[in-house]
Amino acid sequence: MSAHSTTAQAHPNIALLKYWGKQDRPGNLPATPSLSITLDTLTTTTTVRHARTDSISLNGEAVEDPGIRVALADWRRDHEIPPLAIETRNNFPTAAGLASSASGFAALATAIDGHCRLGLSAGGRSALARRGSASAARSIHGGFATLCGPDWQASQLMSADSWPLKVVVAITSSAPKAVSSRDGMAISRRSSPYFDAWVSATAGAFGSMRDAVLRRDFARLAELSEASCLRMHGLMMSGDPALLYWNAGTLSCIEALRGLRQAGRNVFFTVDAGPQVKAVCTTPDARAVEELLRAQPGVQDILTVGLGGGAVVVDG
Ligand code: PMV
Repeated sequence: MSAHSTTAQAHPNIALLKYWGKQDRPGNLPATPSLSITLDTLTTTTTVRHARTDSISLNGEAVEDPGIRVALADWRRDHEIPPLAIETRNNFPTAAGLASSASGFAALATAIDGHCRLGLSAGGRSALARRGSASAARSIHGGFATLCGPDWQASQLMSADSWPLKVVVAITSSAPKAVSSRDGMAISRRSSPYFDAWVSATAGAFGSMRDAVLRRDFARLAELSEASCLRMHGLMMSGDPALLYWNAGTLSCIEALRGLRQAGRNVFFTVDAGPQVKAVCTTPDARAVEELLRAQPGVQDILTVGLGGGAVVVDG
């Protein structure tokens, strides 16, 4: 441990093939494979330094973050990690369906690996990040990433500049979500009559989506991504208690985007465990997508980003 402190940065990723539900064994292992795109512009910056006891600050305020505490205790079972002061900042809303846990754990695993000289490979950092939040495993990589068994370490499928898509995010609420992904997944697994069908349908779609990305087949990627998103929300809605992460603005955006694609534009939607709508499109279509989404009732803000790189140590 040479440097006084180590700072790492990571970006959120958005799953096009969604993971929702965990395996019934330790390690925070997803029940399904997933495929994602890592974004640019939205960034988590995390600094770790030696301390007498662990402490966590988020955007400049001391916080009790049980997710980070549990992950640290878990990581310390396998690695020499001393008490740390952790300072983390997001330049975008936290816990509002913009995947701040993904960039957060990817940045933290990368900062700790560098600071404590754990000497992990990208796969090793991905596995560490996954134990904090499974989607974080994918934010270790830039561009298009997959996460699947048997090792459940994410890999890069294609770099960001191989297919520089745009993502227009329509923010329809900045309130934190009512039910966390972890709790929501447990509800779906426990109580939805569709859970097993979801797992097998997702496993079946994984190879097709990988091929669509490698062929840069936008129409096929659009079809598979929207199907995965709607199946995941169908699963969420079919549990007890039923989970409905959408608001009226979410639905307006979805309908508008479907219309735009029918009119010939390269665009499709995806929605995670929150009400924001992410429209994935090709660069020439981004302006039309922004204008359309801005005009939808309930849309508070629009954010256009591209595809970005993986998690890196930036200082230390
Ligand atoms: O890994 P978590 O707890 O952030 O859950 C992620 C769940 C979704 O974002 C809805 C889907 C996904 O694969 O990222």
